[in-house]
Order: sequence, then C-alpha cells, then structure tokens
Amino acid sequence: MTETMVEAMNKDQDTTTNSIVITGLRKSYEKSSNADTAYAVDGISFDVPKGQFVTLLGPSGCGKTTTLRCVAGLEQATEGRIEMGGEVVFDAARKRHVRPEERPIAMVPQSYGIWPHMRVIDNAAFPMRHGRNRRKGPEVRQRALEMLEQVGLAGLADRWATQLSGGQQQRLALARALLGNPEVLLLDEPLSNLDAKLRAKLRQELRSFQEQFGVTALYVTHDQAEALAMSDTVIVMNQGRVEQIDRPERLYDHPRSSFVADFIGSANLFPVRDATAGPAGGVLAKTDIGPILCTRSAPGEDVRPHDGGFVCVRPEDVEVRPDDAGAPPADNEFAGVVESAEFLGDRLELVVRTANVPVTVSTRASRSLRPGQEIVLRPAPAATSYLAR
Ligand SMILES: Nc1ncnc2c1ncn2[C@@H]1O[C@H](COP(=O)(O)OP(=O)(O)O)[C@@H](O)[C@H]1O
Ligand SMILES: [Mg+2]
Repeated sequence: MTETMVEAMNKDQDTTTNSIVITGLRKSYEKSSNADTAYAVDGISFDVPKGQFVTLLGPSGCGKTTTLRCVAGLEQATEGRIEMGGEVVFDAARKRHVRPEERPIAMVPQSYGIWPHMRVIDNAAFPMRHGRNRRKGPEVRQRALEMLEQVGLAGLADRWATQLSGGQQQRLALARALLGNPEVLLLDEPLSNLDAKLRAKLRQELRSFQEQFGVTALYVTHDQAEALAMSDTVIVMNQGRVEQIDRPERLYDHPRSSFVADFIGSANLFPVRDATAGPAGGVLAKTDIGPILCTRSAPGEDVRPHDGGFVCVRPEDVEVRPDDAGAPPADNEFAGVVESAEFLGDRLELVVRTANVPVTVSTRASRSLRPGQEIVLRPAPAATSYLAR
C-alpha cells in the first residue's frame, strides 16, 4: 500500500473516534543515526478505532513488538507521533513522552508477566492497588474475585500463581489487565506458549471478553490464522513497514502485494513480463506459463496494465480437467502434468508442472488425479488478480 492510500484511509476513519492514532512512527535501536541507519519500525501510520480489535501481523523481526512497546511507552520512537484518546502521549519533534504508567493501557506480554511469589488474587488485584486509578478497601478483593469468576478462574483465588496451568495463567494475565480498567489492551503474542487446541479455544474467549468489556485491543501475532479469526482490522507489516491495512476477508480476496498474498493463505504468484489490456475489462499478463487473463479487482478499482508485477491466483481458484486427447488448450488454459497429489481429507492438493513452473491446485477430494497424469489448468479470471509488486 502506498503512503497516500494509508493517508486516505486514515482520513476516512477520522469520522469515528480513535483510541490510538499513530503517525510516521520510526524507531532505530542505534545510538546515532546516519544514512545507513537500520530502522526496526520504518515510518508507519495507522489508527485503532475505539472498541475495535486491531492486529499487527507479520513475520518474526518485522517490527511488531517494537511498535507495541512504543505505544506502551516502554520504548521511545526516533520519529513520529502517538495519540491516545485524543491526547498526544508521544511526539518526537516536541520531545513529548508520557510515561507508560500514565498511559490508559494495559499490556499482556507473551510470557504473561505473572508474579510467582503472589497468590492468584493478589496478582489480579495488583493494578487496582498500584495502577493509575488506585483503590483501597474490601471492594478491591470483591472486584478481583468477580473478574476471576468471569474469566473462568472461580475457586482458584488463593492458589499460588505457579500452581496454574498455562491456559489458566493466560486467563489470569487477562483478568489482571482488565482490572486496570484500560482504554486499550495491548497483547503481544499472548497465545503462543499454548498448545494448538487451547490456542484455538482461547482466541475465541479472548475476542468475546474484548467485546464484553468494550475495550479496544491492539494485538500482535505472526500467526495469520489467528489474525484472520480474531480481528476487525489487520495491519500487515513487512520489514518495519505497513504492507496493507484491511478487514480479514479483504486481505484474503484483494491482497495488494505479492508479500500479502503469500503471507495470508497460499497463492500462486507468476512474475509478469509484459501486460496489455485484455477482454472483459481485464489485463492479459504474459508470464512464464503463457498469457493469463486477470479480471479481479477490488470494488471501485480498475485492473490496469503496467510494468512488472505478479499474477496472483489461489489454489482453489484454478480449475483442472483431464487432457482430452488432441484438443489444444483454449485461451487461458494451460497444459500440464500432475507432479504430486496429496489427499488432505476435505480436499486434494495438487502440484501441477506447466511450462516447467509448479502450480498449486486445490480440488475436490473425490477426484482421482494421479502423478504423471496429463491435465489442463484454467485459472478463473474473476479470481485472478494482477498485483503491482
Ligand atoms: N532491544 C533491541 N535492540 C536492538 N535491536 C532490536 C531490539 N529489539 C528488537 N530489535 C530488532 O528490531 C527488529 C524488529 O524486532 P521486533 O519488533 O521484536 O520484531 P517482531 O516483534 O515483529 O518479531 C529486529 O530486527 C530486531 O532484531
Ligand atoms: Mg515480537
């Protein structure tokens, strides 16, 4: 996504109230900066609308944790500005830096940050006794007990924190964060230490707590399935920059770059040598397997020829038919040979070699297609996009 598109998007959202507005954030861990300075976060801008669940998604090392720590105030950015609830909490140019404990946030780190020398109840009550809005008296314990019950830890209040299972510690970390009554919850890969089954269960729970408490969430993960399942909006990051900001369905259906297409789900990406206007308002893109017709575009946008880029088609959008002896492939059809066929229960996953290029195809499990078989591939034009990069 270009800077101007990010800006246009941010302007669009100005009509809603934002819990967080981040503008031009850059962060280098180096002491002094020069032309070769490496930036962990390299000029990102995005909003987190009030009440939404927004996720920073990207591969390890792309700058997610650094971004979250800048929002929390645990790191100071090199450039840029952060607003929270309409107040500027960080501004590099004006040297403004509101301390973490003065910001309306609660952070759930990957390691939970639970104190082993305290009982469950005292861990939970900690932000009420020591946080921004300190309270005293019996209602603190009462409120903590209610919250423990809400997150499914009723009856465990007087155990030592170390006597909890991984999933229970995760719930305790969440209860403690919510008891600080934050405007924004910051969560850094909070489910990554749990096994796959528990992870899938807790991500649903986490999302429903977030809605129930009406708290805004900024969530970090490298797991695309988690991001798609939980988020209102996903911010895809790559090498310290924002690649795309969109709803989960839009990211999958209308990726804006080969990076996003490849990171979200799986995609066939064919480099384009040359592109011309094609039928049906589409583009005919010349690739190593031949000319492919691309007519998919995001609503309100056109498909236009330009230099380079990639054709992108998902495995489930490539049709296959047996090669009827002799009949030459029609337009937008490509002859190939099945290289491998993997039965995955609900579907059959094929790798088909055409013009020496491997193409991944996902088809009905009931079909009998075997390695060595000659077939014809047909990428569905309406599901084939032409990406600029
Ligand atoms: N404290 C630090 N000092 C120096 N470099 C760091 C520090 N923390 C992170 N980095 C570097 O910044 C980049 C982004 O890291 P990070 O924000 O942790 O990424 P992510 O959370 O997406 O995996 C990486 O190249 C990482 O090595
Ligand atoms: Mg990280």
